Amino acid sequence: MPFIEVKHLRKTFETDVRRTGRFATIRSLIKPEKREMVAVEDISFSIEKGESVAYLGPNGAGKSTTIKMLTGILEPSGGSIEVAGLIPHKSRKLSSYQIGVVFGQRSQLLFDLPVKDSYDLLRYMYSISWEQYHRNLREFAEVLEVEHLLNRPVRTLSLGQRMRCEILASLLHEPDILFLDEPTIGLDVVAKERIRAFIEKINREKGVTLLLTTHDMHDIERLCHRTMIIDKGRLIYDGSLQHIRDHYATERQIKATFEDTKLAEKAASLFADFHVHTLVEERMLKISYDQHHMDTSTLLKHLLEYAQPRDLTMQDENIDALISRIYREGITDSPQESGRELEGVIVRS
Ligand SMILES: Nc1ncnc2c1ncn2[C@@H]1O[C@H](COP(=O)(O)OP(=O)(O)OP(=O)(O)O)[C@@H](O)[C@H]1O
Ligand SMILES: [Mg+2]
Repeated sequence: MPFIEVKHLRKTFETDVRRTGRFATIRSLIKPEKREMVAVEDISFSIEKGESVAYLGPNGAGKSTTIKMLTGILEPSGGSIEVAGLIPHKSRKLSSYQIGVVFGQRSQLLFDLPVKDSYDLLRYMYSISWEQYHRNLREFAEVLEVEHLLNRPVRTLSLGQRMRCEILASLLHEPDILFLDEPTIGLDVVAKERIRAFIEKINREKGVTLLLTTHDMHDIERLCHRTMIIDKGRLIYDGSLQHIRDHYATERQIKATFEDTKLAEKAASLFADFHVHTLVEERMLKISYDQHHMDTSTLLKHLLEYAQPRDLTMQDENIDALISRIYREGITDSPQESGRELEGVIVRS
């Protein structure tokens, strides 16, 4: 039995439709017109204990809604969820002992009180023993470097400081699963890295199962061995990020540096008849091309034979660009491969 099992999950919201025309406001008040909005359409997946999974998708895809259902905050409109043997919305209290949750956009700390007061309240709510509480507080506060913040009112903390305190709050009761909804949103590079290192540590050392949503690909590269992509409430991909890179990154770039700009421009003219895009920036020539239409070795051979670059680097399509392309265009089976044989499962419903 998987640790988390989701089958044909569905969530719809009823929204008010604004009427137009004469007496629209009055008519809306007397008889509001409702429309059903589908946030999660038909999602199925299972996650084993100790996995760390990224849950990706463009804005409005249904990620937060899924997490709210997994944590029992929202009741599904259809389908089923089991988390550690419990149905979250039916056993909210019991399942909350197994679950930790961090919403990057929402706080579980009491804004006007010192951080420690919120922790004390959580200790009481989760019936954590004093011994366990002090042990965890000491350990996590040290690793997250928040010891000096515990007596500060939450509202005085910077975003990065507050996020570290939020993560600590979500772990005091030693949950088996941690749901993180954009835990690094708005943080600077150093703060992001600190949080990633901590999350990685609790997954590796304590075996905490992770499900993480983010718009930052570095989070995923660092933390998640598996990536699920949803779009318009449907799962469109379930596999590794590396697999996406290997099989969907078709764009590649060669950067060649020359003695001077003139030589770079001369080298660029060598590729006028090639199926590539060239750009000269000072002494550097950038050659971008689609790997399916252009052969890297042909390009390199031509470059080395007719020009004398001082330095050469090659780059695959950046993962950010790749994922946003997948959001825009969806996942298409590459013409060379049948997606089914590959490690990543392309889910179409
Ligand atoms: N309480 C609600 N009432 C009505 N519609 C809602 C409600 N909550 C979410 N939605 C709608 O459901 C859809 C999915 O929202 P959700 O918050 O799950 O997206 P998301 O994938 O988390 O996006 P983001 O990346 O912007 O956080 C959106 O169209 C949103 O407007
Ligand atoms: Mg969201």
